[in-house]
Amino acid sequence: MRPDTARIFFALWPPDALAESLARFAQDAAKRGSGRPTRRETIHLTLAFLGDVAVSELPTLCALGERVRALPFSLTIDRCGYWQHNRVFWAGPAEVPDRLRDLHLQLQTALAESAYPIDPPARQYIPHITLVRRMPSAIDISSPPEGAVFPALEWQCTNFVLVRSVLSPMGPDYRILRKFSLG
Ligand code: 2AM
Repeated sequence: MRPDTARIFFALWPPDALAESLARFAQDAAKRGSGRPTRRETIHLTLAFLGDVAVSELPTLCALGERVRALPFSLTIDRCGYWQHNRVFWAGPAEVPDRLRDLHLQLQTALAESAYPIDPPARQYIPHITLVRRMPSAIDISSPPEGAVFPALEWQCTNFVLVRSVLSPMGPDYRILRKFSLG
């Protein structure tokens, strides 16, 4: 019998006010470029995507997260990008803090040691927050409308989370399974 599985990832989860600002920006971008804006409650920055894992392994993944020893950091969200290959419009940091690189590396290493599939080492980590999916082409954000959130949003990252994604016709629904403190 096929084991019960869950679609799982580790992520940074924004505080409500930041998620609200990003969601507004996403809605505005989707209006200008079309596509599906990310809902406020699902806005996040992925650290490690695991895909489907057996539900029985969730305690192991919680223990793995607990073993990570990374420090808190502040993240400046001041850059937008568009990927043609998956038609995603996103926001992220122009400068990736060393502490974020360290957190990402620790997770990737711990997952590899526990034989979970991880990103290929050659693949560059581009921390990003998906704002709009299915955007047909890039939009020009050089003249943001009144009230736009850019150029910069500050994010004090003091924890990271283990998340379960439940797919539905309305889009993914994300449930935070565990929160891990940084520092
Ligand atoms: P994305 O926002 O760029 O699509 C949950 O699906 C999260 O894991 C999303 O933020 C997604 O990034 C990320 N992710 C990373 N690799 C993925 C993959 N191979 N399939 C689906 N999601 C992936």
